Amino acid sequence: MLKVSTSTVFFLFLGFSGTSHAASPYAGKSLAAKVCSQCHGIRQPSADAPFPPLAGRDAGYLKQALTQYRDKTRRSEVMNRIASSLSDKDIANLASYYSKIKP
Ligand code: HEC
Repeated sequence: MLKVSTSTVFFLFLGFSGTSHAASPYAGKSLAAKVCSQCHGIRQPSADAPFPPLAGRDAGYLKQALTQYRDKTRRSEVMNRIASSLSDKDIANLASYYSKIKP
């Protein structure tokens, strides 16, 4: 784990999300490091972990999955809870980030 305080990452993320209109893999990265990587890992999680890998996946697929978790049209107790606090912009940023990193 990187030694970065949670608040630093959080403010960095707010700064990015407030200024840019295009999907930003940088903003996605800080949110991913803060929230998603606890379960999904940065790259490949261990083979028997229940968390699907996200790196290198199709951005459209990731966006759709996160939108469905937020709408609760796709059911997962954990992911429904996490996605409920994501904005459209967060979802676009996360999809952009994860689709760009190597699996
Ligand atoms: C507490 C653990 C946990 C955290 C934190 C978490 N996830 Fe998940 N995620 C899961 C689990 C478990 C699944 C599998 C759920 C299912 O069966 O649909 C999943 C599934 C997914 C999927 C679907 C992948 C596929 O193959 O269809 C996506 C996309 C995803 N998560 C993105 C994220 C993002 C982005 C974040 C950060 C905002 C995040 N997750 C944070 C546990 C977590």
